[in-house]
Amino acid sequence: MAVLDRLFNFFIPVQDAEPEAIAPAPPTVYETRPLTDKQLNEVLKLNLRCFKAGENYTKHTFSYLLGEPNSLSYRIVTPNGQMAAFIFVMTNAEDGTGHITTIGVAPEHRRRGLANKLLTHAEEALRTRGINVVMLEVRAGNHVAQNLYRAFDYAVVQRLPKYYNNGEDGFLMVKSLT
Ligand SMILES: CC(C)(COP(=O)(O)OP(=O)(O)OC[C@H]1O[C@@H](n2cnc3c(N)ncnc32)[C@H](O)[C@@H]1OP(=O)(O)O)[C@@H](O)C(=O)NCCC(=O)NCCS
Repeated sequence: MAVLDRLFNFFIPVQDAEPEAIAPAPPTVYETRPLTDKQLNEVLKLNLRCFKAGENYTKHTFSYLLGEPNSLSYRIVTPNGQMAAFIFVMTNAEDGTGHITTIGVAPEHRRRGLANKLLTHAEEALRTRGINVVMLEVRAGNHVAQNLYRAFDYAVVQRLPKYYNNGEDGFLMVKSLT
């Protein structure tokens, strides 16, 4: 068994690879647009750059979300049409709630207010649909995202023990849009 374990470890890296060095993109102007199934492959690729292996959505999930009538999705693009950021939100008209499913900004476009832009846009779209409560889950270790949501007046209402596949806890955060 020890031999098998050693062989297994040979093929599975014991720790994550070094993160790629990211040079910030040149300053540019950004535009917010709807994200549709035409951008399935592009959003999938960007999602892989935004989230670690095991934390990202699959093609199947994106495909489902893009075809689901209760899901809203937006992207931010650069002048050459390249996707710099995305957000998906599920709506439940029956109970008036929205659920931020995922949000990601390309590493070279971070700290430029793009997540801020997307959340503002999504919340506005939710308000016009009569949604007045938004919720989301965030990893306990994702302090950057927690900062973002706190800055947007989302409050932690519950700790979710072992919520994620790797056993990590999550936080349920909620915001009233009224
Ligand atoms: C979280 C994420 C979406 C933020 O995107 P962003 O466009 O860089 O964020 P913004 O520039 O709009 O920042 C808005 C606020 O978020 C917080 N924030 C963003 N990046 C931060 C960082 N590196 N450190 C601390 N706070 C940060 C700050 O409060 C910031 O406001 P400020 O710039 O006035 O201080 C981006 O880092 C990302 O894609 N991360 C990987 C995917 C992820 O974790 N998604 C969330 C899953 S729940």
